[in-house]
Amino acid sequence: MASYIIRNVSKSVTLLRLNDTDVKYFEANWHIPEGITYNAYVIKGKDGAVLIDLWKQKYSDLFLEALKQVVEPAEIRYVVVNHAEPDHTGALEAFSEVNPNAIVVAFPIAESLLRAKYNFKNQFKSLKNDESLSLSDITLKFIYTPWVHWPETMMTYYEQERILFTCDAFGSYSIPDGVDDQVADKEYERYSEKYLVTVIGSYRDNLLKNIEKLNLEGIKPAIIAPSHGLIWSKNPERVIQLYTRWARGESDEKKAVIIYASMYGSIESVVKKIKDSLPGVNFKTFAFTDNKRDDIEDALTEANGAKVVVIASPTYEVGPHPSIAQLIDIFSMKMKGLNKPTVLLTSYGWSSTADKRNLKAMQDAGFKVIDQATFKEKIAENDLKRIVSSISAALSSQP
Ligand code: FEO
Repeated sequence: MASYIIRNVSKSVTLLRLNDTDVKYFEANWHIPEGITYNAYVIKGKDGAVLIDLWKQKYSDLFLEALKQVVEPAEIRYVVVNHAEPDHTGALEAFSEVNPNAIVVAFPIAESLLRAKYNFKNQFKSLKNDESLSLSDITLKFIYTPWVHWPETMMTYYEQERILFTCDAFGSYSIPDGVDDQVADKEYERYSEKYLVTVIGSYRDNLLKNIEKLNLEGIKPAIIAPSHGLIWSKNPERVIQLYTRWARGESDEKKAVIIYASMYGSIESVVKKIKDSLPGVNFKTFAFTDNKRDDIEDALTEANGAKVVVIASPTYEVGPHPSIAQLIDIFSMKMKGLNKPTVLLTSYGWSSTADKRNLKAMQDAGFKVIDQATFKEKIAENDLKRIVSSISAALSSQP
């Protein structure tokens, strides 16, 4: 059952965090048994309060219940919408019922989206470029960061306390026990990389450009407060470094990822031979077989930081196996342009055309195919040796 946490972030900022344990498929697509949080923030000043982001609509009642424990809703002068997606704006209608006078601050695309989706009377302050807003002792600088994750997205910098509210950027899946980066362990980092790849992977170049923009504008936050996951108050630089590395598809692990489908065992036996030939290699293997179906989200996350990716598929009708076809399609959406070294293996019974389709699809998806083998049921020994040596060479190469 969903629950919430209220916690002070600083002298004047309070976190309202909804722990969403009901969601199983984020964006109706990504399997997240680990759940997700929606973080809203209240800044209280001498002349009123500011609300930064909200929660998903189904949690509107809980949102108002939590909000009233922190501030009288009528005291909120501005509602900052960093991003119009409904996981951060769904409670706007309910908020409007208790405070129709607060001014919503957002970029114009957000206004048209919000007016189309929700019924509410509040006025808008429509931003055109990076602008600031002062409310006596609260100064907010709005930094336009388009496509992290939608075209209207911005970040809000609270100058007095150097807190950067980043919405989706630097966010994560999972429902951590704590609220700040003291509990940011390796497992949390994996959920964060999964979040980056699945949700904003298509816009990784925009993410990198906007990180650069923060640098150019001299924004050096003491605290990074995203709208999903942990608040980075102990080491905010760390999450910027991690996000930069993941957006570039880099990793500090020297790993190879094998993703395969196998209907009757030929591909599975080749995968086993490859792994047996390279006993010292850190292989992460994801299978789609008649008794196993790994999460595609985990395969994508591991492939993001891999030194080499091996895609192995039987021929299905005249193309790749449907599981592999879907994977390649998602690669082309979320991992385009990484130029990731890739090895393709294709088995067939009577039609050997799938390999050409796989090669074109992976090249179109922005992967660098360094080797491939196509075989009728069993791989030839010389092909196997060559493939093993190609994987080994890719693992030894410098980034
Ligand atoms: Fe968390 Fe793009 O919304």
